[in-house]
Amino acid sequence: MKLSYLLVIFFVSISGSVGDGDDEFANYTITKRILPKHIAVGVATAAYQIEGAWNLDGKGEQVWDTFAHEHPERFAGRANGDVASDSYHFYKEDVAAMKEVGVNYYRFSIAWSRILPDGTVNNINQAGVDYYVRVFKELEANGIEAMVTLYHWDIPTALENQGGWLNPKVVDWFVDYARLCYKLFGKYVKSWVTINEPKQICHSGYGNGGFAPAKPSPGIGEYVCARHVLLAHAKAWRVFDREFRATLKSRNTIVIDSDWYEPTSYSEADAVAAETKRQFVYGMYANPVIKGNWPQVMIDNIARFSKAQGFNESRLPPFSEEEVALIKDTYDFIALNHYTSYMVSAITDPNHVGGVNWDEDSGVKSYQKSSWGTAAAGWFKIVPWGFGKLLRWVKETYGDKEIVITENGVSDTTGTLRDQHRIDYLRSYMSHMVDAIYDGGVNVTSYTVWSIIDNFEWTQGFGAKLGLYYVNMSDPLRPRIAKDSSRYLAKVIKTRCLLDSC
Ligand code: BGC
Repeated sequence: MKLSYLLVIFFVSISGSVGDGDDEFANYTITKRILPKHIAVGVATAAYQIEGAWNLDGKGEQVWDTFAHEHPERFAGRANGDVASDSYHFYKEDVAAMKEVGVNYYRFSIAWSRILPDGTVNNINQAGVDYYVRVFKELEANGIEAMVTLYHWDIPTALENQGGWLNPKVVDWFVDYARLCYKLFGKYVKSWVTINEPKQICHSGYGNGGFAPAKPSPGIGEYVCARHVLLAHAKAWRVFDREFRATLKSRNTIVIDSDWYEPTSYSEADAVAAETKRQFVYGMYANPVIKGNWPQVMIDNIARFSKAQGFNESRLPPFSEEEVALIKDTYDFIALNHYTSYMVSAITDPNHVGGVNWDEDSGVKSYQKSSWGTAAAGWFKIVPWGFGKLLRWVKETYGDKEIVITENGVSDTTGTLRDQHRIDYLRSYMSHMVDAIYDGGVNVTSYTVWSIIDNFEWTQGFGAKLGLYYVNMSDPLRPRIAKDSSRYLAKVIKTRCLLDSC
C-alpha cells in the first residue's frame, strides 16, 4: 500500500456525528491531504455572469437583462450584467487563465437568447453561434475539455412574456433549443448539462420572486415551474440519447444543487426533519430523475397542508405514469453543486400547518449557526464537513453512482489577491470530499471550482466575488489578475497535495 494511502487512512474523519456541538469543526477542517489522481479538476462560469455584450451582434434580451434594467434597486450597487467580465470580448483571457491553472475542463453556459434572440428556432443568430464556436476552438487549442450548460437561468424575455417556465409550451421550446445546440456544438462538447439548479429557477424565480423573472407565486407557481423544468430536462436528455449519443460520444445530465441539512439533536424527530428537508431540497429534483417521481414525503406533506389551507387539491402537480417513465433515468452521472449547510429541527405540534410556500411545506425549521464562518453573503456559511456528509448521503440514498461536483467555491467582498480564506475553503471542502471518497466509498470523479474569474453574482452584483482571478469591473480591458487561490489550485492539480507539503 502506498504511503499516501496510509497517511490518508490515519487521518481522523468526523462524519457520523451530529453537527450540533461540532463547532470546533466549523471552519476549515482538514481530514485528508491527497487529492486522488483520478479526480479531474475544472472551473465554471455562466453566460450572464461573465459575457456582457447583452445586446451586441443580434443577441436577444433575456429575463436577467430585463429584471436588472427594470429593477436596478433589486441589485446591490444597482449593478447589472450588461458588460460584466466582458468575456464576449475577453474569452481568450479566460482560457489563458484556465491554462495557467492547468484545469482539465471548463464548465460554461450558452445564452439561449444569444443564439435564438426570441427563443424560438425559426430565427438563429449566426453571430451568436460564431461566438461560441470561437470559445470552443480556443479551449480545444489549449487542451481544455468543454462541459456545456444549456440553461443557467436566462430564458429569453420573449418566452417569459408568454409565461416562461409556467407555460407548458416551455418544454418544447427548450427541447428545440437543446437539439439545435447538440447539432451546432456537439463535436466540441464532452459533457452536457441541460439545466443548472432548478431550485433557483423555480423557488427564487417564481416562488419568492427574488430572482428573475421575479414573479412571486409561492407554493403554487414554483411547483408548476419545477414540473416543467423536469419535463424539459427529461425530453432534452432523451433527444440527446436517441439522436446524438452514438455519434457525439458525449454525456448528458442535469445539475442539482444541495446544501447539507444536519439534525439539531440526536432525537428521532430531528433526524426525520433533516431527512424531510433534504428531500424537499435535493430529492425534489433528484428523486424524479433517479427514482421516477416526487419524493413521497413531498407528495404527502403538500397534500395534507393544501387540504388544511382550504385548497381542493394538492398544490404539487402530479406526474402521470408516462411522465414518471419519461423523467426516470435521464442522467449519465450525478452533477452536484454545493456551497453551505443548515441545521434542522422538527416542529413537534402535530396540527402544525405552515404558510403557502415551498419552504414551509417541508414542515421543519432550519437555521445556520452564528459560530460558522461567513462568506460575502449571510446565507453563505462555511461548513466543510457538511460537504462530506452530503456526498455520503447522496450515495446512501441514490446508490453507488458517479458524482461530478459541478460547483464549489467561496465569495468575498473585496476580490483581494491575497485570498488565503479561499485557499482554506477549497482545501477543507476538497479534503472532506476526499474523505467521502476513501472512507465512504463515494464515486466522485471531478471537482469544479466556481469560478475562474470574478463575475456578476446575480442580485449581489459585483459585491460578492468568487473568482480565482480578480477582474476590475471599472477597467474597460478587464484584465484577469491571478489571486493566490489560482496558484494554490494550480499546485494541487500538479502535485495532488492539498497542503503546503504532503
Ligand atoms: C450558481 C452560480 C452562482 C454560485 C455562487 C450557484 O448557485 O449556479 O451561478 O454564482 O452559486 O452563488
